[in-house]
Amino acid sequence: MNHADNFPNHVAIIMDGNGRWAKKRNRQRTDGHAKGAAVAIDIVLCAKKVNIKYLTLFAFSAENWNRPKREIALILSLVENHLKNKATELKENGIRFKTIGNLGDLPKSTVDLIDTVSDMTSGCTNMVFTLAISYGGRQEIRAAAEKYKNSGNPIGFDSYIQSAFLPDPDLLIRTGGEKRISNFMLYGLAYTELYFLDKYWPDFSCEDLKAAIKEYKLRKRRFGDLI
Ligand code: IPE
Ligand code: IPE
Ligand code: MG
Repeated sequence: MNHADNFPNHVAIIMDGNGRWAKKRNRQRTDGHAKGAAVAIDIVLCAKKVNIKYLTLFAFSAENWNRPKREIALILSLVENHLKNKATELKENGIRFKTIGNLGDLPKSTVDLIDTVSDMTSGCTNMVFTLAISYGGRQEIRAAAEKYKNSGNPIGFDSYIQSAFLPDPDLLIRTGGEKRISNFMLYGLAYTELYFLDKYWPDFSCEDLKAAIKEYKLRKRRFGDLI
């Protein structure tokens, strides 16, 4: 399928509002994360269907380590279970799995699974699905600066940014009603179109993704130029 030029090549999503979704239903925050994880998988498959080439989902931030241990463990176990259960389906759909973030902070079981699914899908070319996990935009820039400094290379700072294998996001979606970036892809978001919706992440649907893309197509991007 060929898209007009104004179709977003890279869509990035801040999946926010799991806890409030659960609270509204008098349920545990963890129930919100469970539903949210299932929705994330649906959206990956939906994104591939509508022919998005790069999808990046913010699952767990560097600052989310400050949350209660129990909640962190639950989120990481959801990531592991879904990766385990959906690895074959990702591969069958030609979806390449990647991550950004500080994997060094994650439990070995999570890292092992990430490595397995990344390797398993490394030949897939329909879509790149990147999970941002233990990820912080400032941390990413600081790490790049450190590597750049040690490299002695006078050019090419951008290539030390961990997410540099991705094109800059064209469209950023944030669910949950907050209108902020919360330390997501700070370097790449310079000229990204922003789309905020009040819906909590567990209620986000394929239709919502399509609606965001429809609005994106109406935006006029100028990149500082006079076009
Ligand atoms: C997003 O939902 C998931 C993560 C940040 C891990 P939250 O857990 O932030 O839910 P709210 O924002 O408290 O409702
Ligand atoms: C951003 O949501 C991180 C993820 C969605 C993974 P947060 O819930 O952590 O952001 P703040 O604290 O509301 O800014
Ligand atoms: Mg939140």
